[in-house]
Amino acid sequence: MTDSFSHMLRTGRAADVEAVLALWRRAEASPSSTESSEDVGGLIGRDPEALLVAEAGGEVVGSLIVGWDGWRATFYRLAVDPAHRRRGLASALVRAGEERLAALGARRLNAIVESHKPGAMAFWASAGYQLQAGRSRFVKNLP
Ligand SMILES: CC(C)(COP(=O)(O)OP(=O)(O)OC[C@H]1O[C@@H](n2cnc3c(N)ncnc32)[C@H](O)[C@@H]1OP(=O)(O)O)[C@@H](O)C(=O)NCCC(=O)NCCS
Repeated sequence: MTDSFSHMLRTGRAADVEAVLALWRRAEASPSSTESSEDVGGLIGRDPEALLVAEAGGEVVGSLIVGWDGWRATFYRLAVDPAHRRRGLASALVRAGEERLAALGARRLNAIVESHKPGAMAFWASAGYQLQAGRSRFVKNLP
């Protein structure tokens, strides 16, 4: 998979985990309680195709987690390196994620988006996702 700016899109592997965590720090993706190497390694261990990365010049510059539970699909951790933004990279990652999910039979896709980030909100709207009113997200961290 390549986009029009010679970024290569591919499935992320265990060897990419540290680079992906570094990208999330550069991209100022807000940290959560699931940001360790073990957490991301666990994701890949359970679903080896769940992590998409974009690479440029041998460096990981984009990421998207494509979660599929057999019923519904959820995107997490869409992040693009600040130096590579506004070139369609996030759009290419989401398109690749949608293709993967369609092949798996998914019909309803969710994106968890930080509502205080106008760029993120604008991106998902531009990608054709509708903001769902009347729902709130409840979370709980297990010890
Ligand atoms: C949000 C983010 C992933 C967008 O990545 P990107 O590769 O720059 O996005 P694209 O180039 O594919 O943008 C496609 C369209 O989305 C919209 N968009 C993207 N970023 C935007 C911004 N900062 N402000 C307004 N609209 C934006 C535009 O309509 C854009 O099309 P255009 O460039 O022709 O105007 C990136 O800014 C990022 O990593 N932000 C920090 C982490 C984050 O907030 N992630 C999302 C959490 S769900």
